[in-house]
Amino acid sequence: MKIALVGYGKMGKIIDQIAQSRGHEIVARLAETPTVENLNNPDVVIEFSNPDAAYQNIKNCLELKIPVICGTTGWLEQRSEIEALAVRENTAFLYSSNFSLGINLFFALNKKLAQLMHPFSEEYRVQLEEIHHTHKKDAPSGTAISLAEGVIENSDFTSWKLEKTEGQGLGIFALRKDEVPGTHSVYYRSEVDEIEIKHTAFSRKGFASGAVMAAEWIKGKKGIFNMKDVFGV
Ligand SMILES: NC(=O)c1ccc[n+]([C@@H]2O[C@H](COP(=O)([O-])OP(=O)(O)OC[C@H]3O[C@@H](n4cnc5c(N)ncnc54)[C@H](O)[C@@H]3O)[C@@H](O)[C@H]2O)c1
Repeated sequence: MKIALVGYGKMGKIIDQIAQSRGHEIVARLAETPTVENLNNPDVVIEFSNPDAAYQNIKNCLELKIPVICGTTGWLEQRSEIEALAVRENTAFLYSSNFSLGINLFFALNKKLAQLMHPFSEEYRVQLEEIHHTHKKDAPSGTAISLAEGVIENSDFTSWKLEKTEGQGLGIFALRKDEVPGTHSVYYRSEVDEIEIKHTAFSRKGFASGAVMAAEWIKGKKGIFNMKDVFGV
């Protein structure tokens, strides 16, 4: 496939290596807004840029009817607008807060655990925690938001909130430490014990190979997808 990389930072560079090792051609490596000229006619765009740039980047590509795989987090207020545009343009859009196989299995486990714990919400208090590197721009992480949504779907919570902020909602702790790729935990604590499920990423490679697999998978498809569709979990 011909792939254009929109955003060429830590993730863009690893995706470049993995895509080439799987026989794909990289036709653009952009650290600026994509246009018909600089995209160079790709089959698919993989977008990992930053929260302020993502919306315009995705919009430009979809308007050119190019399918987009997006991993940028922190822009989701405009997600429904982007999804409607993809449908209108009769092309494809796939967003995932986390492209690794492990975390997508973890998402499924999180939902199952939330279902099991629902009848015991008086006894057990649920909380989420994420730890990332200090350069990360958004908090909580997109992955933590996906986990919170998985709990909300299967509990009486209707919203999430960053821990230590005012208001109701499922609490998420967001911690920042030097050079860690990312850890997510879900805890259920009672007076007598605690259940914890935890996912730790060891490197960014898992995200990057998932993004390339998504690009391969989306070829010829039209509509709105996520990694659940790609991995079948
Ligand atoms: N979904 C996932 O699995 C996953 C995994 C890791 C990171 N992320 C997210 O992906 C994004 C990128 O992560 P990163 O670690 O590569 O960040 P990074 O800061 O290393 O790279 C971002 C790049 O975007 C470029 N950029 C700035 N403005 C741009 C624009 N208008 N158009 C195109 N590119 C522009 C910057 O020059 C920079 O090189 C972040 O939002 C991060 O949270 C998602």
